[in-house]
Formats: sequence, structure tokens, C-alpha cells
Amino acid sequence: MEITEIHFDSIDSTNTYAKKNSASFPPDEITVITAEEQTAGRGRYQRKWISPKGVNIYATFCFQLPFPTKQLPSLAQVMSYSLASLLIEEGLTPKIKWPNDVQLGGKKISGVLCETLFQNDSIQIILGIGINVNMTEADLKKIDKPATSLEIETNHTWDRQVLLKKLEMRFATHLERFKKEGFAPFHHRIENLLAYKGETIHCFDGKKIWVGICHSLTSEGLLNLALPDGTLQALHSGDIQID
Ligand code: BTN
Repeated sequence: MEITEIHFDSIDSTNTYAKKNSASFPPDEITVITAEEQTAGRGRYQRKWISPKGVNIYATFCFQLPFPTKQLPSLAQVMSYSLASLLIEEGLTPKIKWPNDVQLGGKKISGVLCETLFQNDSIQIILGIGINVNMTEADLKKIDKPATSLEIETNHTWDRQVLLKKLEMRFATHLERFKKEGFAPFHHRIENLLAYKGETIHCFDGKKIWVGICHSLTSEGLLNLALPDGTLQALHSGDIQID
């Protein structure tokens, strides 16, 4: 699939821009909206995404999939895996905190926000990823959860353009596979990178907080939690809290 980039010096949020303008994007291409800074970057659960200028990657991948597409909720995990696989090639050891945070050394370096617009026979996907690339300790302190950047973890500055281009190519390849085979090719690869495997976690699924052992991924990308009564509970979505 062809990839077209639209770049902004400053924008409220690349996801918000994509949602407002997706009707004008070519339907058979991936349009990637990027920005040097976001003034109203958004995270999951209405959180803010701290988006200082000129140091990180803020990118939203827009494309269409047929309606219905099987295992659609797992697509955001594929994006996290695209990044994680690139970091592994750089000699790093990322983990994926289910569903789609990428961590280094137990701290978050990347998050994914997937939004969808349903049309007649297609779904417009708006898949935003934020990556803390060269973010400084001072900026990281503004984030209320443990977070780090590639620069801090590796002691060198990263070329954001090079990393973004690699991510675009890797994700485009993974997307083609997802369209043909669904989540199956990614299931075990992502499960192998799962953070907190075998540990007790708290997971808020939007309604209640589940407590159990982080066990495995289902073939559709749901999180299997081993409950104290010995049963497995598959969670469709959620937010893992460690304390
Ligand atoms: C999360 O972990 O809560 C998801 C964070 C997603 C942040 C990215 S940055 C690019 C895109 N634009 C946004 O406003 N959010 C996503």
C-alpha cells in the first residue's frame, strides 16, 4: 500500500485532525499524519498525551478496512508489535504492556490510540502512536506514570525521521498480513513480549477492577487473567495497574 505523509509543525492532535479530514484521504493508501508538537495530544481513557516540540514521534496512520473485519480490536496491538520488533532489531528488549503500550525497563516509551469511523461498507481506521524518542528527564517528569525515552535508555539521540520511516514500512507489511490472516501471525509473537507475565496485576476493564495473574493472550488478542478461583477470565480491553 502506498504511504503519504502529511506533516504539521504544530497541531492539536494528529488523531483529531485525521478524524476531521479522513474523507479527503485516498481510500487505497495509508495516510500518515505527523507533527512536531501536539497542543492537545490524547491518550486512552481521555488522558492527555504529553507532546513537547521537536523531540518525539506523534503519528496517526489512516486507512480503510472492509466492514466487517475480523479481530479488529487487536489491530492496535499489531502497531505496538511493529515498533517492538524494530526495537528488538536495535538490540533492545521491549515488552508490551497489554493491550498496546511499549515499555523499556518497565517504563512506557510508547502508546497507541485506535479510533474508528464506520462507513457503509468500510471502516476508517485512525491509529495514532506516540513514541518518546529524545524526550528529556524534565519533560518526562510531566507524565504521571513511569515513562522513559529511547534517548534515555540508550544514551544516544535517535533520528526520528529514520525511525518513523522504518515504522511506516514495518506497519504496512504487518497490515497486509493482518488483512489476509488476521491476528494469528502476531498472537504468539506478542504473547512472548507480554509484560508482567506470571505476575499479579489489577486490570480495569471500564466497569470493574479485575485482580489476577497475567496469564496469556487469546488467539484474538484478549488478555487471559488467571483468577484466584482457578478460572481464566478473558478481558476485551482494559488498563493494567501495578501497585
Ligand atoms: C495511550 O497510551 O494512552 C495512547 C497514546 C497515544 C498518543 C498518540 S500521539 C499521536 C496520536 N495523536 C494523539 O492525540 N494521540 C495519539
